Parts: sequence; structure tokens; C-alpha cells
Amino acid sequence: MRIIRAKDYEDMSRKAANIISAQIIMKPECVLGLATGSTPIGAYARLVEWYQKGDLDFSGVTTVNLDEYKGLTKDNDQSYYYFMHHHLFGKVNVDPTRTFLPDGTEKDSAKACADYDQVIEKTGGVDLQLLGLGHNGHIGFNEPADEFKASTNCVDLTESTIRANQRFFASIDEVPRQAYTMGIGTIMHARKILVVVSGQDKAQIVKDAFFGTITPKVPASVLQLHQDVTVVADEAAFSLIG
Ligand code: F6R
Repeated sequence: MRIIRAKDYEDMSRKAANIISAQIIMKPECVLGLATGSTPIGAYARLVEWYQKGDLDFSGVTTVNLDEYKGLTKDNDQSYYYFMHHHLFGKVNVDPTRTFLPDGTEKDSAKACADYDQVIEKTGGVDLQLLGLGHNGHIGFNEPADEFKASTNCVDLTESTIRANQRFFASIDEVPRQAYTMGIGTIMHARKILVVVSGQDKAQIVKDAFFGTITPKVPASVLQLHQDVTVVADEAAFSLIG
């Protein structure tokens, strides 16, 4: 595991964007695994800026996102499709037909999950997977559990995740209770993984996930077993690490 210490959120975002752009430059036809949430927003903003300057070309890139809320349509401003379109896809020259997320409108969970696994398989596999880190150690929407889930699955979100996501909705009742998420097995199959973490409130989980016991109770701890993981976190997030 490669640890990169950033000064603050801006520095973390710039460093993460540099790693993603290096991937695109080294392999213009790469497959990027992408995340939503508040942490990667700064990195996406840098990528857009560098695209606008002419330094980056997304025309060959394929993207597969980690997750999507079950029940939200693409035009719902809280769907992850909407988020990705707003922060990245709508602002760079990625081919919209090569940007993939689980289909939140598919009511049949088994079908939605099987379809998404097939989509990922057809891309040839993820070259660089970007991840944020949940307060309880979740990655994608893989919540603490008794086992690591291999493939795309439909999850019941925990109270802590529903509460954390509440800030994006008008009320807690509007936060979806289920989501489709890429499985831990698929995440571990990515050739490279980049984790971005920011803030004091993530310090304890950074310590537990990356320096503690490997257990499905802390899903991100499995990343310690991957051969090419880079964690870019700011000083606040690393504050409990010596
Ligand atoms: C988002 C995702 C989640 C977030 C995590 C951290 O696609 O898969 O695992 O990365 O909840 O969210 P933030 O960055 O908002 O703290």
C-alpha cells in the first residue's frame, strides 16, 4: 500500500487528479472505475480544468461507477448518474455511451446486478478504481458484514450511511434505503486502486481500515491485500497515524 500525505483537501484533490490523468495519458483507452460522494469532487474539478486547458483527452476512456441508488431515475438530482454528469461526464469529451452505472430504475435486483457485472466484464476490467471511504469503512456501498461480497449486489443501507447521506436530500425520509453496488471482489480485480480520504472525521476509520485487522466488518480493510493500492489522504485524515 502506497501512502501519499496531502496537506489539505485541495492538495489531496490535485494529487489524486494527477494520478488519474497519468493513467489516461499512459493508456488513453483505459477503463476508469469512478466514485461519487463529496471526497472526489475536487479531483473531478481538476480533471475538468486540465481537459479544458487541452492537457487531457477522455475520448478513449470508458468509465464504470461503483454504485447507484435503487429507485432513482437518471434525472433525479440525487442519483449518482446525475452527480457524474454534473461533475465530470457533461464537462469532458468522454463518449456518453461508454459511461456506465448500475441501472437504479431496474426493479429486479438480481437482473440489475447480473447486468452490471456483465457490463464490467465486457469492458475488459478496470485499470484504475477510484474509491472514497465511508465512516464505517464501506467502499462502494459494501457495508460492514460477515463476509466480503464478490460481485454486484443490492444492499440495505445502514442507519449511519443513511444519516451521512441525509445532507444531500430535503429530508431523511427521501434518502433511498437500498442501492446497487459493485462487489468487493470486482473492486479487488481492478489493476490499480486509488483511495481518497479527507478530514478529521475519517481519521479513526483510516487507522482501522489501512493499519488494522483485515475483516469484512471493516470492508476497506481488504484493500491491504491488493498489490497496487495508493491512499491519498490529507493531514487531518492521517492525524491518528504516526
Ligand atoms: C460513492 C461511494 C461511497 C463513498 C463514501 C464516502 O460512490 O461509493 O463509498 O465513497 O460513502 O463518501 P464521502 O466522500 O461523501 O465521504
